[in-house]
Amino acid sequence: MPTVIIDGRELRLSEGERLNGIEAARRVGIEIPHYCWHPGLSVVGSCRMCLVEVGARDPKTGKVTMQPKLAPACNTIVADGMVLVTESEKVALARARVEEGLLLRHPIDCPICDKAGECRLQDYHFQHGQDQRRADIRPFTSRRRDIGDITLFVDRCIMCSRCVRFVNEISGTGELMVVNRGAHEEIDVAPGYPLHNKLSGNVVDLCPVGALADKDFLYRQRVWFLRNHKSVCTRCATGCSIWIDENQDRIYRVRPRENPHVNRWWICNEGRYGHSYVHDPRRLTSPVRRTAAGRAPVDWSEVIDEAPKRFQAARRPAGVISPFLTVEEAFLLCRLLHKWHGQVVLAVGPVPSTDADETFPGGFVISAEKCPNRRGVEAVVSHFAGGVIGWEEFLARAARSEFDAVWITAGYPLPWIDAEQASKPAGVETLVVQDLFPSPLSDRADFELPGAAWAEREGSYVNRNHWLQTARWTIRPPAGVRTEGSLFWELLGREGLYRAQAVLEEAAVEIAYFSPARGPVPEEGVQLTPPTADEPSAAPLSRGPTAIRR
Ligand code: FES
Repeated sequence: MPTVIIDGRELRLSEGERLNGIEAARRVGIEIPHYCWHPGLSVVGSCRMCLVEVGARDPKTGKVTMQPKLAPACNTIVADGMVLVTESEKVALARARVEEGLLLRHPIDCPICDKAGECRLQDYHFQHGQDQRRADIRPFTSRRRDIGDITLFVDRCIMCSRCVRFVNEISGTGELMVVNRGAHEEIDVAPGYPLHNKLSGNVVDLCPVGALADKDFLYRQRVWFLRNHKSVCTRCATGCSIWIDENQDRIYRVRPRENPHVNRWWICNEGRYGHSYVHDPRRLTSPVRRTAAGRAPVDWSEVIDEAPKRFQAARRPAGVISPFLTVEEAFLLCRLLHKWHGQVVLAVGPVPSTDADETFPGGFVISAEKCPNRRGVEAVVSHFAGGVIGWEEFLARAARSEFDAVWITAGYPLPWIDAEQASKPAGVETLVVQDLFPSPLSDRADFELPGAAWAEREGSYVNRNHWLQTARWTIRPPAGVRTEGSLFWELLGREGLYRAQAVLEEAAVEIAYFSPARGPVPEEGVQLTPPTADEPSAAPLSRGPTAIRR
């Protein structure tokens, strides 16, 4: 087995494995500082922060011979018998010199820089820089330039070129380039061709310093006030792993979370910036009951008393399960409606979609399907109903007055139903609509119930490739709103607080599709087995609006 020695620690490689020095060192718990290297981009070896000592061990005598010059770890593929030294006087001096060079002309505007607190230049300077400055301090320039989707602080740039490689290799749009030469090098765009593509926000995450700033986040929060939560994006069926950064129940930033099975290191701008609807003042915040006397806010206890009686007394009730619900919420709602009435008809809510998936040169896919959990919800509905009815079929049957009590869940971040569709359910004596925003349908409802947004709920989503991930709640819902899971839990008469993990366990026991999700689901998620080799869905897609709610 090929063996490498890194700072005296032995690393065994599997046959044919190719790792560079940074990756190999990480395997034995050593972090080599670096700026320009990124695992998702090509290697340029330009910043020289990762310099290490490299040598070779004679297999017969065991004698180690070191090369006289330092080598960049990012550009050194480790091989059998190789010896790397990442901590030595020589290496420390090289790192200090790189830091000194970078800081010669770097503006000291950390107090107003968005990156302060998570800046590699700051962090590495404290770890590897020298405490004395040898050069004169001259006035610094701090130029700011609007280059399209992103703001560029020209003089903060350390020329790592990660952003340029990203637009060439991952988004394939090529807007960014290096202009000028030597000490005058700068990042820029060609006149008339601003940085504008659906993945552009990723260059902000890639920038190791504060040169590329997000217009959506600029000067809104200091990063040390933010709490970071692991979550899952719900804006399309790709289901990217994300970080939600919030402070006092307000989301300030959404960033990609590395997941090799789903999104690698990237997310699209729709997922990154499409969260403002969560704090939209137009959201529903109280249950409303419609009676002969008109519509009036009521207490949740009235809903909990009244809804079971109405559905149990119905002749032909129906439930519409939104593809924005989690697996656990869909499971509890189907169980609840079945408990109330054995003949209940279950349908899957509308699945908004665009014409086609968008695949980028780096392999990232934005799904045409603009909901997070069609596959999970269909598997649950199919388990309880023995098949899947789509939204169009439900509407057609509702228009023929087939149902007298209907519970509709929605939770779409976009306006999703027009007046014509909303007028279709006929002869319904009890209509319950659970949604985020008022709509022509909720205006007709006997009970209009406020729903919680994705970041306020916990549960699991199954993406386009049958990959299940779970997300915890990250912010509290507005006062007066109950999460779907907690409401269904109480209506089912279960003890204590709603626990998504317990419900997923139940679903995994009852439904074979979810059986790989038994036990704690790993952070990266788990692969479910599709029911057939082809698409498992029986529900036709229905088109819906896809613009971000502003
Ligand atoms: Fe190796 Fe920049 S990270 S040279």
